[in-house]
Amino acid sequence: MPEAIMLVGGKGTRLRPLTTHTPKPMLPVAGVPFIAHQLARAAAAGVTRVVLATSYLAEVFEDHFQDGSPYGIELVYLTEKEPLGTGGAIRNAASGLTCGPDEPVLVFNGDILSGVDIAALRDSHVATGADVTLHLTRVEDPRAFGLVPTDDSGRVLEFLEKPETPEQIVTDQINAGCYVFTRSVIDRIPAGREVSVERETFPELLASGALLRGVVDTSYWLDLGTPGAFVRGSADLVLGKVDSPAVPGPTGEALLLPGAQVDRSAVLSSGTVVSEDAVVGAGAIVEGSVILPGAEIGPDAYIKDSIVGAFSVIGERCSLNGAVIGDGAVLEPDNELPPGLRIACGTLLPIGAVRLTAGPGGCPAGASAAATVHGPGIRVSS
Ligand code: GDD
Ligand code: MG
Repeated sequence: MPEAIMLVGGKGTRLRPLTTHTPKPMLPVAGVPFIAHQLARAAAAGVTRVVLATSYLAEVFEDHFQDGSPYGIELVYLTEKEPLGTGGAIRNAASGLTCGPDEPVLVFNGDILSGVDIAALRDSHVATGADVTLHLTRVEDPRAFGLVPTDDSGRVLEFLEKPETPEQIVTDQINAGCYVFTRSVIDRIPAGREVSVERETFPELLASGALLRGVVDTSYWLDLGTPGAFVRGSADLVLGKVDSPAVPGPTGEALLLPGAQVDRSAVLSSGTVVSEDAVVGAGAIVEGSVILPGAEIGPDAYIKDSIVGAFSVIGERCSLNGAVIGDGAVLEPDNELPPGLRIACGTLLPIGAVRLTAGPGGCPAGASAAATVHGPGIRVSS
């Protein structure tokens, strides 16, 4: 299976503000743009040529990966002027394939970190003569995914994208976003219009009697579409919980990229990445987080499960938990963000503006109300 199509044209809205200037599949995960991990895994399984189906911020991919030669894989770019949806993108990208109608083609979403055995998926596809073979995984809460019930032989019975009623939750098996298509099946998707492979192509194929087979694989699997999943995926790669030939260094508690400066008294753990030219100050504690290039973490700051944007500044004693800090934002000292807060690119949070507990100077009587009316920033509680 020498050829593949990778879908990388989505807007990554759930990861804003990180995806304002960088498409989701190009965000650095364990030190490299996310799709470098997928490309390396595909190459290891025998894929030699990948058509990237781009749309949103398309130029960012080609600027970085060029023709793919430094990565040992041939890359071709096919860009949709207006996003064509997952099925439309696959159809559009097919013009970049060179294989014959009966050949298997790997198709994968550009935001999935997984340990799936790609070669085994292809072998199963070829052995059964399926039209499409889908990688399936089991999750506790399938509501955010495509549900794919199968019979005992693996034949797909139904495809239920993002179920809306409890009755539709008929299985915990979901579409894991990686398929093997027989090339001629791709060529039958309507061209030149928006098509959802999940809502239109798969149900229509099933209705026409095509053989769609699901292969349940229990290896590591994660969709990196949300900030929480994004930091977890990066940390799991750094910790070695999932293998990728593209991780630029040994696995362990932390990955330091060239030019990173970490004070000897700082503590990095749980798969943290400190990117190029980022600085971590004395006494800072950074757990399971991604510190992007050129960011500065001040002394005694505490950063947990967070993404700190490029060239942002986190002041002394600031505390972040599950936060997303946009590029170039400045948090002056003593900000203590509530879990999950996102700070837009370039924002300035004045000293102690956001706190969950009383600041170092306490909170004099009457000052709380005055600060609510006149004070800078947001006071969560005093
Ligand atoms: N080129 C192109 N054009 N790519 C697109 C477009 C488009 O119009 N729309 C989405 N994509 C790409 C995204 O960049 C992403 O890599 C992939 O297609 C899937 O889109 P998501 O927006 O991440 O979809 P999802 O996560 O909600 O759901 C999909 O993935 C689940 C597994 O994570 C579906 O395939 C579900 O059925 C599946 O369970
Ligand atoms: Mg997704």
